[in-house]
This record gives sequence, C-alpha cells and structure tokens, in this order.
Amino acid sequence: MNIKLTAQLPKTHTQKILKKEAKDKDSSCLVVLVDNNKNILASDSLTEYQERIEQLMAVSHFSGKACETVADYALAGDKKTTKANPLQLLIVGVGAIDKLNHSALQKIAKTIYQSTQKRVASLTIALGDALQENEFSQFALNLLAATYRFDKYKSEQTTPVLTDIYLLADNRLQSALDFAQSVFVGQSLTRDVANEPGNICFPAYMAEQAQELGKKYSDILKVTVLGEEEMSALGMECFLAVSRGSVREGKLVIMEYQGKSKFTANHSASYRDNASSAAKAGLKAIADKLPLKANTKKGSNSDAPIVLVGKGVTFDSGGISIKPGAAMDEMKFDMGGSASVLGTIQALCEARLPINVVGALACAENMPSGEATRPGDIVKAMNGKSVEILNTDAEGRLVLADTLCYIQRYNPKAIIDVATLTGACVVALGHVRSAVFSNDEDVLFELENASAQSGDLIWHMPLDDEYQSLLDSPIADMQNIGGKGAGAVTAACFLSRFVEEGQAWAHLDIAGTAWNSGKEKAATGRPVPLFMQYLKNSVDMA
Ligand code: BES
Ligand code: MN
Ligand code: ZN
Repeated sequence: MNIKLTAQLPKTHTQKILKKEAKDKDSSCLVVLVDNNKNILASDSLTEYQERIEQLMAVSHFSGKACETVADYALAGDKKTTKANPLQLLIVGVGAIDKLNHSALQKIAKTIYQSTQKRVASLTIALGDALQENEFSQFALNLLAATYRFDKYKSEQTTPVLTDIYLLADNRLQSALDFAQSVFVGQSLTRDVANEPGNICFPAYMAEQAQELGKKYSDILKVTVLGEEEMSALGMECFLAVSRGSVREGKLVIMEYQGKSKFTANHSASYRDNASSAAKAGLKAIADKLPLKANTKKGSNSDAPIVLVGKGVTFDSGGISIKPGAAMDEMKFDMGGSASVLGTIQALCEARLPINVVGALACAENMPSGEATRPGDIVKAMNGKSVEILNTDAEGRLVLADTLCYIQRYNPKAIIDVATLTGACVVALGHVRSAVFSNDEDVLFELENASAQSGDLIWHMPLDDEYQSLLDSPIADMQNIGGKGAGAVTAACFLSRFVEEGQAWAHLDIAGTAWNSGKEKAATGRPVPLFMQYLKNSVDMA
C-alpha cells in the first residue's frame, strides 16, 4: 500500500468525479469525514463537493456518529446508482471530535479500508487539521495495519483493488507519516512471524529471520546466535530445562541495533566492543560471566543501549505438565514477545533512530518427551540461583531468567522484557491492555506516556516484596510458580530475581494482547507501536 500526504485534492479526483470519467479499475474515491455536529472536516478544501455532501447527508439522515457511512456511487454520471458503479464519494462519521481516541481512530480507519478496498484503486481522505501529530500517526498506522493479510496458506489469495491512499493534511505531518510507515513495516514482520505455525516457526526459524534482517540492514544491525552448546557453557540451565524436551534446538538470538554512532555526530567509543565480541566467545564460560565494567553505574554511559528481551516459546505444549487440548493451537503465538522485539528492531532500522538498542530473542520449544524436564527437577540459572521447577508449563520465566542474566553484560540504560507469560494476566486485564511491572519510576513513566501517545495500551501492576515469598521453595533458592492468586505478579516477581540491584527494568505481560482468538485468530503485532513510541521519545530526551 502506498500512503502519501497531499496538500490538495489530487487533480485526478476532480477530473474523475466532476468530469465523469471514472473507469472501474483506476477509480478513485474521496473520503469525507463528518463529526456528530455534522461539521465537515477539511471543509475548506472541499467547497466543490459541499453541496453534494450536504445532499447526501440529508437524504440518508446521516448523524455523524463514529463509523457511520454513506456511499455515493452515482457521481460518475451513470444513470443507475448501483453498487456495481465505482465508489466516488464516501462519507464517514467520526463522532465527537474531542473524543477521537485510539480505538475510535482504529475503527474509523478499518471502516474506510473495508468499505473501499474492493472497489477503488485510490483514496483521498480529507483530514485537514483535525488530527494532532500523534493521532495522525496512529490513524496512518491503523490504515496501513488494516491492509495486512496473512493468506499464504490459502490456495487462493485475494488482491485488493486499493493501492494508494492520500491523506489530505498539513505537509508538516510528513515525519509523523514516515514514522508510521516504519512502525508498520516492523509490526507486519511481527505479525508474519507470529502467525506462522509451530512446524514452520521454531527457534532456528526465528534466528534465520533475525539474520535476514542482519543482512538487509548490515550497516546498523549485527546479529549473533547462541545455540545450546554455548548456553550450556554459560550455565543457562533454566533456559535449557525448557528446550531439552524438544528435538528443535533452543536459540538465543542477539540483535544489536547501533543507530547512535551512525546517526549522531561526535560519537565516542562503541558499546559493541563490550558485548558482541564477548557473545562470540560464548564458550569461555567463566570469563563471560564476569561483569564487563565492574565500577560503572548501570546505564550511565550515554551509548548504553536499551535492551528489549522477548519470550520466544515457538510452541508451548506445557511440557510434562501438559496443557489441556482446547485452544492449545494458540500456543504457537507464545513467541509473540520475541516476534515483537524482532519487529521493533526492523522498525528501528527503517526509522533509523539515533539510539542504541539490543534485542534478545529467547527461543525454545516446550515439549514433553523422555528427555523433558520433570516437575520437581532443580536447575541453576546463569546467575547461580537454583530453581525448583514445580510446573513445566511455567516455562517462559525460565528462558527469560537466563536471558536477563546474559544481557546485563551490556550495562543497559533500561531492560524491557516482553512475554505472553501468564493466563492470569488475561484474567486480570483481558485483551485491551498489556500489563506492565517495573522497578524503576522513570521507565514506568515513559512507558505509560508512550502507551497514551501510541494507543498501544498498558496498565501498571504491582511488584510488592510481599508477593516474593510465594516463590519460596523448601529445597532450592526459589520455585518457578507461586500460589493460587496473583499469577501475573508472581511471574513478574520471579523475573525480578534475575535483574541486578540498581538495574532499571520493566516487564510487559502481553498474554492477552499479542493475538486475537476465535474467528479472527491472528497476531496483533503488539506492542511494536508502544516500543517504537517509547524509543522515539527516548531520542528526544537524550
Ligand atoms: N504461555 C503461557 C501463558 C498463556 C496462557 C498465555 C494462555 C496466553 C494464554 C505460559 O507459559 C503458561 O503456561 N503459564 C501458566 C503458568 C502457571 C503454570 C503458573 C499459566 O498461566 O497457566
Ligand atoms: Mn507454559
Ligand atoms: Zn508459555
């Protein structure tokens, strides 16, 4: 889909609409937005059409409530007003203009796309100055996201007729549009990868996707993959306890996006020397476990990266603590966290933000077998802490624990992990907001800001010390599950034990938001928009 800003109605519109030249295949449609006071948005640019618009609103008793539509097929001058004629003018209600929040914008964008995609080749949406920069960006992203399809496994694919969207709005919004396009590219990759079934998408497939990006953006992106042998040498027994039941080898994928040196002048020493050379020498276990710079305050170096860590369980059967059959297929989405990190890294490469970001994908398949971890088994994490695995279905926290230990060698400014971690999170927040847990007020504040600005919503959940004791084990340093209550919180508490004192960290539980179930079963691409907004804001602050 091509999406462009336009300062005036394209000439072709006027010709096609007023001079009655419309042909099916190159038809264009003007989309006019009207609020619930029947004010026409961008009316200054629409004077030629005003009479027609008002007539249409009158005959159809149009009220302007959100997503109400009136289509005019008759403007080409054809005698018949039928749906077979190309759509010329579409009036779409936006409701109360001061209540245009994210979900309204999303519905309006979807409505516009769905009512036109099979009928016209191009659209011009008259926005004028109705939207502020953030809303404009959201709206553009929603339009683009509405075009997303995953039909590669259908023997017939439908190609939409619609190929071009013009947004009639201020030229100064160009950078907001560019940003939305970068986010869309990354979010689409996230959805593509997450939608793949478990027989295609397993840890090595995730690694390949990352390596493809490494080739495509070789000037700013470096990708390293650790296999089980290296992880074993690093002492990552928690991670390996998850992947050992599967014939598919677990992979820890490290993606280093280095935009700071590339896109800022006067760049000093690179953080990369610290990290990826060490990553390569993964077999030198002991040396690798030592902190890199013993006396530096965490994240104090201005080149210090923000590290994103994604849970990448490519299929979660539960392992020996096997899940019930209903909807188990949806556990192919259990790598949604790492898919969102992968997509965010691509979006960053597209947007070329001048910051350093490391993405870590903790990829494993959780399967039962004769080799699989048993309930009761005790393993040691990379930081030396012992874990009694009481339930092999609480596996996400195990792969994340070792990955969190590993990535602290980067002395990150902040660590944000993202995971489809608990069914309890879905109980708490449903499918609207992702949960956020954090040990750092600044990171939390910035994430909540980015949530409001991007419309990719989160909700703050507690991490009080009082919850920690639920993880006490009679035999090891901790057990991998808590009690009956507060399952999303105890999972976050478990992760917090692998974050060093003073290290800023946040955890996102996206169990309810990474995909839609039922008839609409598909990955959402969340929280790529949230991450990109957060990262963009972090540039402005630096
Ligand atoms: N991947 C699941 C969490 C999940 C379940 C996400 C349903 C989305 C929908 C996770 O690995 C898991 O199985 N968690 C267990 C933890 C429990 C054993 C403490 C859960 O939530 O039931
Ligand atoms: Mn599980
Ligand atoms: Zn899982």
